[in-house]
Amino acid sequence: MLRSSFSHTFAPIYVGRPDGNNKNIFYKSKRQACLTITSSQRVTARLKRVVMRERQMKPSKINFMEKFSKLPDEDYSVRIIAMMNNYEFKIVKFKGEFIWHSHSDTDETFIILDGKMQMNLRDKVIELSPGEMIVIPKGMKHKPASEKGYKALLIEPEGVPNTGDVDNEITMNKIEWI
Ligand code: NI
Repeated sequence: MLRSSFSHTFAPIYVGRPDGNNKNIFYKSKRQACLTITSSQRVTARLKRVVMRERQMKPSKINFMEKFSKLPDEDYSVRIIAMMNNYEFKIVKFKGEFIWHSHSDTDETFIILDGKMQMNLRDKVIELSPGEMIVIPKGMKHKPASEKGYKALLIEPEGVPNTGDVDNEITMNKIEWI
């Protein structure tokens, strides 16, 4: 039933920009015209997202550790697990030193679930343990770090890039659902 209503409502139509920089993919109704074709991977991610939203219409519990167990075996991994209005809940696993960055449009919340995090701010370092949280104000430079690794829940508005105002090799503009 989910699938049939989904395919009825959304047709994956790729909308490219005239300069060829096809960063954005939109879903339009079947009545609207198809323009330019872009990567199928992005479409798959977008489709998954829409399906996830439909699933949220049927609430069920989410277990953090079960979600963490599905993350790739890497020092840094982040995935969306839920949404509330236009806010995303993301699980993040991190070991090492992140980069200095800030988010010019939004505050960012970290809730530590496992391990220890050192949140570096310009004038101090705040150590966080499981059961503790911190809200980084919009525009404030910060750098999470952890020698042995931490697991945390991140809460921030939909679509916030992980490295904020900095664009480098670990920047993810689109984060997958798990
Ligand atoms: Ni940040």
